[in-house]
Amino acid sequence: MTGLPNGFIRSGDVLDDRLSGAETRRLELLYGNEELLYGLDLIGVAGPFKKVTPWELADEGGTVRINASGFSAVPFGDMPPAITEFIRDFMEKNRAMGLPQQSLSPWRAALQANLVRLLARDLPSHADSQVFFCSSGTEAVEGALKFARAWRPGTRYSISFNAAYHGKTLGSLSLTPNPEYQDMFKPLVPGALTTPYGDLDALAALIRRAGPDKVTCVIVEPIQGEGGVNIPPPGFLRGVGELCRRYGIVVIADEIQTGLGRTGHWFESAAQGLDPDIVTLAKPLGGGLTAVGATIVRRAMYKKMLGGLSSKRHSNTFGGGALSMAVGLRSLEYLVENDFAARSLHLGELGLQRLKATQARHPRLLEQVRGQGLLLAMQFQPMVGLPLPGALKELVFEATAILALRHLHDAGVMANLSLSQKRTVRLTPALDMPEDLMNTMYDRVDAFAARHPASRHLLTNTPPALTAQLARFAAAKPKDRVRLEG
Ligand SMILES: Cc1ncc(COP(=O)(O)O)c(C=O)c1O
Repeated sequence: MTGLPNGFIRSGDVLDDRLSGAETRRLELLYGNEELLYGLDLIGVAGPFKKVTPWELADEGGTVRINASGFSAVPFGDMPPAITEFIRDFMEKNRAMGLPQQSLSPWRAALQANLVRLLARDLPSHADSQVFFCSSGTEAVEGALKFARAWRPGTRYSISFNAAYHGKTLGSLSLTPNPEYQDMFKPLVPGALTTPYGDLDALAALIRRAGPDKVTCVIVEPIQGEGGVNIPPPGFLRGVGELCRRYGIVVIADEIQTGLGRTGHWFESAAQGLDPDIVTLAKPLGGGLTAVGATIVRRAMYKKMLGGLSSKRHSNTFGGGALSMAVGLRSLEYLVENDFAARSLHLGELGLQRLKATQARHPRLLEQVRGQGLLLAMQFQPMVGLPLPGALKELVFEATAILALRHLHDAGVMANLSLSQKRTVRLTPALDMPEDLMNTMYDRVDAFAARHPASRHLLTNTPPALTAQLARFAAAKPKDRVRLEG
């Protein structure tokens, strides 16, 4: 058979907006992650959404909301002109190879040089570090774990922290200690150990128990993002560095969420006194439009794994591709030339004050708010006050955040769940969101809290029919929710 298969959708139809919302929903549920999208669609937060301004999105009914979602990967909002105009120029002018792979590339050359120079400005010991590019955060972590192993052959343990999130491929998953994500895939990569975040004595004790010469690496988020925005006590990160240096253990700073401005510094680890051996980056490098991951590694360590005839020991096809490097180059430039890290720190302080005021007015709704820069979290009180058994408690916690997400959505703010913290909803607005819009966002959060002044109202203010649907969904086994015609 030749030609386009039946039902083949033309690219121009999508470009010209001829694929309706209803058809998008049907195809997504049929051929994509049906259960995820069905659940989000049930609570009314699945879209599809369209850009109104880079920071505001409209749903199919035309309701416009402020977008504070995006999991820290949307630094300038949607389709930001600073990036899209550059991509248009790139399409017109670029003559370099699209996928250089084993050829030289001016785009890759420029981005890796800029990343190392930016890092070395804060951490001079990185002046001659080297970069490996990839296409996701988890892949940047996988690379980091391999560099660490190659550096310390014969060691067997890698240490991460409670509530850490490093990704979901097998290596990074092994160090993401969340039973929901790990259990089905056991046995994972052996040798993963976990210790409480922020507790230096516990880390020291674990290293002593494991045997310092048996520990390959410690991987740490300078502030835990998916864990619900957990800020370690002062001195913790510096202490991790000192402890590991004493024994020659590799330190990996996973800056995929915190790095490049989100928490108010280009590199949060450096700001907290840690000089890691390896830094992983991803989310904002892609400008909210494409996938760019990077693993920055001390020179000797890089050479140990990829030196001499072993230069292809770790490789990929798409890392370093011209379009992603061009977007990365422009995104990094736009971040740095506008000093968005400092802006994020300043606006984050104001934002946290606003959220704290809301929390003080509504302590029966909000147990705690926390954050740094524009990585902000609201932790809700459990909806049900009674003591509950483990699994049910987890379910109620998760339902609390899900209903909060929906009611925030109704109040005009799009927020994020936290992948490893069930009762916490995060706000991660674009780093360049205009200040008046950001203020409107906090006004709306406040209005949301006034409408649901205690967490049980999240439930009682939800239409009973929807609550029943959600309960049925939570209790159900996987099932087909849409079917092929005919
Ligand atoms: C700190 C951290 N590391 C790794 C990852 C995984 O990145 P990705 O989802 O691009 O694989 C994330 C994603 O949220 C993250 O926050």
